[in-house]
Amino acid sequence: MNVRPNSESDDAPIFLVGFMGAGKTTVGLALAHHLEYAFFDLDELICARAGKSVQEIFAELGEAEFRTLESAAIHRCRHMVRSVVALGGGAYVSEENRASLRAIGKTVWLDCPIEICLKRIAGDKSRPLLGDEDDMRPLLTRRRAAYAQADYAVPAGDLSPEELAIEITTILNS
Ligand code: S3P
Repeated sequence: MNVRPNSESDDAPIFLVGFMGAGKTTVGLALAHHLEYAFFDLDELICARAGKSVQEIFAELGEAEFRTLESAAIHRCRHMVRSVVALGGGAYVSEENRASLRAIGKTVWLDCPIEICLKRIAGDKSRPLLGDEDDMRPLLTRRRAAYAQADYAVPAGDLSPEELAIEITTILNS
């Protein structure tokens, strides 16, 4: 019988949660390398399927449609094993997505100070929701309560991606 993996399985996917610029993709690649897992970026999966960039989806179809595509992409992750997935910064905000992710795998919040996030992504035109610090602070404040519901939280401001990969592996194995 082919048993579908779930969040309790050792092979269950690991999802990295957190704000834009928290390092989800960079740390995700380092973690996948460390664990010898596959790596996926949820935004890339969405864009490949839609045949459009994130900016094009927001501009042509709107944010609500992006969120629908994002939820569908999360749903498709249920088939993954031994994989690390970097989520977009808004993916863990919806209760429905949180429930799906909880059922599929383990979630790790990269809790990174906003100053560091903004420094990393300043001027990046590929992020339609990116604004100045006055817009981003309240957005992160609103989202923190959702991010805090991840299975694990890791302070992500000071360590390198490789150090964070080791830290996350230790936490997941403890
Ligand atoms: C978003 C973050 C982006 C991307 C989209 C929306 C958000 O991903 O999913 O622009 O709502 O915070 P990153 O967190 O990788 O920038």
